[in-house]
Amino acid sequence: MATVGKVIKCKAAVAWEPNKPLVIEEIEVAPPQANEVRIKIVATGVCHTDLYHLFEGMHKDGFPAVLGHEGAGIVESVGPGVIEFQPGDKVIPLFIYQCRECRFCKSPKTNQCEKGWAADRYDVMASAESRFTCKGKKILQFMGTSTFSEYTVVNQMAVAKIDPTAPLDKVCLLGCGVCTGYGAAVNTAKVEPGSTCAVFGLGAVGLAAVMGCKAAGAKKIIAVDINPEKFEKAKVFGATDFVNPKDHSKPISQVLSEMTNGGVDFSLECVGNVGVMRSALESCVQGWGVSVIVGWTNLEDCSTRPIQLIAGRTWKGSVFGGFKGKYGVPQLVEAYLDKKVKVDEFITHNMTLDQVNDAIELMKQGKCIRTVLHVSPQ
Ligand SMILES: NC(=O)c1ccc[n+]([C@@H]2O[C@H](COP(=O)([O-])OP(=O)(O)OC[C@H]3O[C@@H](n4cnc5c(N)ncnc54)[C@H](O)[C@@H]3O)[C@@H](O)[C@H]2O)c1
Ligand SMILES: [Zn+2]
Ligand SMILES: [Zn+2]
Repeated sequence: MATVGKVIKCKAAVAWEPNKPLVIEEIEVAPPQANEVRIKIVATGVCHTDLYHLFEGMHKDGFPAVLGHEGAGIVESVGPGVIEFQPGDKVIPLFIYQCRECRFCKSPKTNQCEKGWAADRYDVMASAESRFTCKGKKILQFMGTSTFSEYTVVNQMAVAKIDPTAPLDKVCLLGCGVCTGYGAAVNTAKVEPGSTCAVFGLGAVGLAAVMGCKAAGAKKIIAVDINPEKFEKAKVFGATDFVNPKDHSKPISQVLSEMTNGGVDFSLECVGNVGVMRSALESCVQGWGVSVIVGWTNLEDCSTRPIQLIAGRTWKGSVFGGFKGKYGVPQLVEAYLDKKVKVDEFITHNMTLDQVNDAIELMKQGKCIRTVLHVSPQ
């Protein structure tokens, strides 16, 4: 191919500074170095974690950056030492590495890995190194992926090879939101058949958690959101009951406790708000209730009275639904192709990369579930 071994000049949406619109720029993407893969991004979702970095986290060392971490694409070229991937492979970049060698990768208990930006840079949300430059400046790769770009370069530890028949403008959502919510219910909460669940926040992550609760056999799934426009969609994924905290003057944990004879068996926080995290925990039944934090924030402490935990509740957290990406993502792509997992139903809008700021605005206003940005032809 004409581009192999050369710098590629291409279009990307650059976040030059926090709290400002992204700017479509021509960037330079260096060739892949040893153990790296250069990927032509075909499609990418916009996830709330992109908005978190831009508008909430706003860490000064995390800019300028190319955001986006929920993408799918095609391998363009590979660097020395890469044998797992070849040009033309369909892939999903992974924001949680899987080196397969560290103590975490070797343990079945976790999907954490000692490699990659997530090992020690949760504030900055980007690795120190980058293969991007623009106007003579280094541009960081958000969550090690940067899918709001026509091309990106990632370490082979951060790539999952998927079924070549998979439609990339759909399965890109398995790069974050759908796996995150589904896995939080199935892998982290370990929702049980016949149980009662509550899901707080009905974006793509929360709706995927609803789908996971249903797949695990929950009999009652209470969908909680302050935006009642989300309830119709939650029904599609299996929610049985709907609660808008704004309709109640009592604390929401009390409302849920009264609905469920003392609290739910499992709750999942998919908002990223420490107050909601507390409510989700306190909505669980004493004795065995399990609450999982999925929403992303690293700005404030979350707290509760110790008696909540002494009384037998468990508070957990989950990143990327607990899936080890190289194994979990291809499996979920197969489950989607076999119609066992829904993906299309999350997509409310389709746009081009140029319209990324419109997509961000839609999410800010709660007017979408997922917008898929079509970046390059398949
Ligand atoms: N842990 C992970 O690996 C991981 C991965 C992806 C996303 N996330 C995080 O998950 C969260 C959800 O992401 P998303 O893309 O679905 O976002 P989203 O913006 O599409 O959805 C959030 C939903 O929460 C609702 N909400 C806001 N305040 C609420 C409240 N007080 N009570 C109930 N509902 C409330 C909103 O109305 C909205 O429907 C974000 O914090 C995101 O950063 C975490
Ligand atoms: Zn995400
Ligand atoms: Zn590892």
